[in-house]
Amino acid sequence: MARQGLPGLLDTEAIRKDFPILDRQIHDGKKLVYLDNAATSQTPRQVLDVLNEYYEQHNANVHRGVHVLAEEATALYEGARDKVAEFINAPSRDEVIFTKNASESLNLVANMLGWADEPYRVDHETEIVITEMEHHSNIVPWQLLSQRTGAKLKWFGLTDDGRLDLSNIDEVITEKTKIVSFVLVSNILGTLNPVEAIVRRAQEVGALVLIDASQAAPHMPLDVQALQADFVAFTGHKMLGPTGIGVLWGRQELLEDLPPFLGGGEMIETVSMHSSTYAPAPHKFEAGTPPVSQAVGLGAAVDYLSAIGMDKIAAHEHAITEYAVKRLLEVPDLKIIGPSTAEDRGAAISFTLGDIHPHDVGQVLDEQGIAVRVGHHCARPVCLRYGIPATTRASFYLYSTPGEIDTLVEGLEHVRNFFG
Ligand code: ALA
Repeated sequence: MARQGLPGLLDTEAIRKDFPILDRQIHDGKKLVYLDNAATSQTPRQVLDVLNEYYEQHNANVHRGVHVLAEEATALYEGARDKVAEFINAPSRDEVIFTKNASESLNLVANMLGWADEPYRVDHETEIVITEMEHHSNIVPWQLLSQRTGAKLKWFGLTDDGRLDLSNIDEVITEKTKIVSFVLVSNILGTLNPVEAIVRRAQEVGALVLIDASQAAPHMPLDVQALQADFVAFTGHKMLGPTGIGVLWGRQELLEDLPPFLGGGEMIETVSMHSSTYAPAPHKFEAGTPPVSQAVGLGAAVDYLSAIGMDKIAAHEHAITEYAVKRLLEVPDLKIIGPSTAEDRGAAISFTLGDIHPHDVGQVLDEQGIAVRVGHHCARPVCLRYGIPATTRASFYLYSTPGEIDTLVEGLEHVRNFFG
């Protein structure tokens, strides 16, 4: 039901009926208030039912058998690929690679480029560009590649209000840049980054672009063609799907040209004791038995999100985030780390509360039934940049309500009283 004064809200009363876990009571009857959606989202009955039916009726390995179950499992797995391709407006289903999570998708690109021939090869004469607000999964693979090849790792810094500092974009992205890899929505700051400016500069110098859309794909319409990137990575468990399934979308001609990273069954065309040739993409990049049920579950999650509409989900989260920013800024001593407006940001809000350690904040909130994440959120360079050890982060989704924001604010008042 739309709360007065908050336009754009979804019918959360109806939606929450699909999520049994949201009815849980914890700590002696406290109603669960789940505000840790940037870490993982909850799973609706519709996805749980599909997973159950998969294991009760269709479970088999894919692309290997001629029996009925193997054909059904293959059709369901490949059907999930169709659903994901449509969800992100991919020009071809063959551009959708299933991985185990976004980290694996990002590592896959780093390794494709590390083992590639010219013109893609990253070596000691080339540069890799990332940003200071990346998740560790978009820092460490590039550090590893840089150590292995001698390529120089460069990055965009941050402004005081949690945005990318692109003032020196022409010095950071140069003719030597081979790849620019950056996050679309920061998991710690919530910042929505200006894709167009970065892609334009990367294209000027002929660099490839990889976008980490882990915190965007669940929350807003994602159109890989409109982004004009070369690769886009995201994960299933943040968008109502199961864990163990990620996606790497890549442009077809690149996937044809670039070498595989993992070798094994089903990624080959022929194998002899001397050499092998590879299957076309996406199979070239899916060695071994893939995460079949997880992909099928992700397909069901995509159906669920699409039935509601990603534009409606984005509008709901915008309204919730706007309300949350306003209410949180009413809490004395609370400082938002990141943009302190609802514009150009996602639905994850990090903050500090005076000098109370975020772990203490998180624990006292948990005792009241409120689940948030505390720590450096796998983005430690952001904490170093702002001179803080950690933050408390509240993150919302399509089932979050204004009432839950009110409960969070009351919970924070309790934390302040508790610590005097
Ligand atoms: N990347 C997840 C988070 O931000 C785990 O919490």
